[in-house]
Amino acid sequence: MSSNNARTAIVTGASKGLGAGIAQALAETGTAVVVNYRTDAQGAERVVTGITANGGRAMAVQADVASSDDVRRLFDRAREAYGPVDVLVNNAAVVNFAPLSDITEDEFQREMTTNLLGTILTTQALAAQDDIAAASIINVSTAGTVTHPPYASLYVASKSAVNAFTIVAAKELGPRGIRVNAIMPGPSDTEGSRAMGYAGSDQEAQAIAATPLGRTGTPDDYGPLVAFLASDDARWITGDVILASGGMR
Ligand SMILES: NC(=O)c1ccc[n+]([C@@H]2O[C@H](COP(=O)([O-])OP(=O)(O)OC[C@H]3O[C@@H](n4cnc5c(N)ncnc54)[C@H](OP(=O)(O)O)[C@@H]3O)[C@@H](O)[C@H]2O)c1
Repeated sequence: MSSNNARTAIVTGASKGLGAGIAQALAETGTAVVVNYRTDAQGAERVVTGITANGGRAMAVQADVASSDDVRRLFDRAREAYGPVDVLVNNAAVVNFAPLSDITEDEFQREMTTNLLGTILTTQALAAQDDIAAASIINVSTAGTVTHPPYASLYVASKSAVNAFTIVAAKELGPRGIRVNAIMPGPSDTEGSRAMGYAGSDQEAQAIAATPLGRTGTPDDYGPLVAFLASDDARWITGDVILASGGMR
């Protein structure tokens, strides 16, 4: 793995779950990491402490990715502390499984603004920096955009839009040396999935049975892949949407 000594990363929604694992993995490559969170200041501080105790550089910044003012402040804070932001991981999301009949206008706004608008706002903020020579954006989508599980129509639709956004943004930003890729994680054990009652459920058992590698994912499974996509080793990869699900499809 290439060292990323000069890099500055923002990982959105890194106070727990996959975002926390990704922040740790990036910090291990020498990248200074901004651990973004929306409400869980304690969780974000725990992630920062874990990174700094290991000799890494990190700080926590509260911001709602669905707010353009917050996103501007997030980038300002990152740049003041560590310089231009050249790695962006759009991981923050509202994950909600619900039957079609339960989808309301409010829920549509909540999921789409965080999952899609949030990704767009942060991508714009990264691209608005005129002092970066190259950058890597990694969007965290879901394997659900391939497996299309029932009771996830709004969530999967929001992430399918993120996949499409990834491919188009890569074409627009490529000439500036900004790569844009997405990963599609499989079902994973996180604070969020536990809160939804996923651990130990029938749904988890069915997913494991459909996963060639035979287990649920963990936050540690995604950090190395994101660190690779952020690094110069992935310099020829852009506009790709990569399945990382233990083979579940
Ligand atoms: N876990 C899975 O099985 C799975 C599978 C496939 C894909 N994914 C994707 O992986 C990513 C992480 O999932 P997870 O299970 O780790 O989630 P999680 O445990 O629920 O954590 C979600 C994180 O997102 C943050 N967040 C939510 N809304 C935000 C907003 N508006 N602005 C800023 N931060 C916000 C939360 O911040 P606070 O807690 O501080 O409010 C938290 O840090 C998501 O994109 C999800 O779609 C997860």
